This record gives sequence, structure tokens and C-alpha cells, in this order.
Amino acid sequence: MRIRVIHGPNLHLLGRREPEVYGTTTLAEINRRLEGLAAELGVSVYATQSNHEGEIVTWIGELVEGWDGLILNPAAYTHTSVAIRDAVKAVGIPTVEVHLSNVHAREPFRRKSLIAPVALAQISGFGASVYEVALWGLVRYLRGAR
Ligand code: DQA
Repeated sequence: MRIRVIHGPNLHLLGRREPEVYGTTTLAEINRRLEGLAAELGVSVYATQSNHEGEIVTWIGELVEGWDGLILNPAAYTHTSVAIRDAVKAVGIPTVEVHLSNVHAREPFRRKSLIAPVALAQISGFGASVYEVALWGLVRYLRGAR
């Protein structure tokens, strides 16, 4: 089973970006933890980060074949990107939207997600652990647990 992980804009700054909101765990450490859990679960993960909406759209479009699921933190594009939403819908891959912070407890503009309606699930507020929660849940789902 192959799981794609896409981190959106500004997430390369995790660790020193607003630590009171996003914690102190770096993106490299998040990816390392995901690799560890993937090994335990017997699946593979491939993670990349981009600050560019079009690049994220291109990466999602590549998931038409050979990939089983997507863990996506669209970051600020969550609240603005029709293009990323359309890409997720177009490829039809089971997608878990993740946010380190609880987006529903912050500024009103963060409560609206354009991605959530086309996602399998949204996980928000556990800090860096959202990625591992997402991987665990997604693999269980793909293996047929309901
Ligand atoms: C975020 C929440 C978004 O509102 C914000 O723009 C981000 C990070 C999160 O992981 O909590 O960049 O997606």
C-alpha cells in the first residue's frame, strides 16, 4: 500500500513558525515519525512540501494510478483553493485533510475548508500527531475497517 503525503505552504518552517500555535516539531521529524509508523503498519509513505498551489495540483494529479491514499495539509490553501479541491475530487483518491492546529478554534476564516467536502476525513488540533493519526486511520479504512 502506497500513501502520498503532501505538505502545503509554510510548513517547511515548522519548528520555528509560531511555535505556540504549531508546536516545535520540525517537518523532517514529522516525516521521520510517519516513516516509522508506516514501517510498523507495513505500508510505504512518500512525503513532499510545496509553497506553490500549482505544484500541489500537479502532484495530486499524478495520483491517478499506483497510489492508495493521500494525507494532505493544504495549509493556507485549505481556505482558498478551488484548484486543489478540484484535483482531489478529480483523482478520487481517499484523502485525509490534516491541520496541526484546531482550525475551528482560530480566526473565523480558518473555519471554512474548501477541501473537507471532498475528503474522507479531516483531523485537526493534535499538533504534529495529526499526521500519524491520519496514517493509522487511512490504512485501517483502506484495509476495510469501518
Ligand atoms: C494549518 C492551518 C491553516 O489555517 C494555516 O494556514 C496553516 C497551517 C495547520 O496545519 O494548522 O498554514 O493547515
